[in-house]
Amino acid sequence: MSFVLCSLDTLIENEARSFRSPLGEVIVIKRDDQVYAWQNICPHLGLNLEFNPNEFMDSDKHFLICSNHGALFNVEDGLCVSGPCQGDSLLPVSIEVIGNEIRLLAADEVNKS
Ligand code: FES
Repeated sequence: MSFVLCSLDTLIENEARSFRSPLGEVIVIKRDDQVYAWQNICPHLGLNLEFNPNEFMDSDKHFLICSNHGALFNVEDGLCVSGPCQGDSLLPVSIEVIGNEIRLLAADEVNKS
């Protein structure tokens, strides 16, 4: 049975939220009818991105931002475009949207180990 991260209707366009999962904490964001999911681990120092709960967006709500040292990441491909880890990327999390549910794709494999 796959793991349900959250409901699609709990997400607000361009506002990222994080959820606990068998794969660790996952950042989920909806933009232009697409849903993107990234591990909440900054490639700079391996820390969570946010200081305050669900504070993942820059002031323009265009990039994901790491609160630690200000790295900016594309929502769509996770690439760091500015900051100390420029050129590195957030790690993607495989999800599927089934009806109103956003599910992890790899959760079953994690649960077996
Ligand atoms: S830990 Fe994210 S920019 Fe330094």
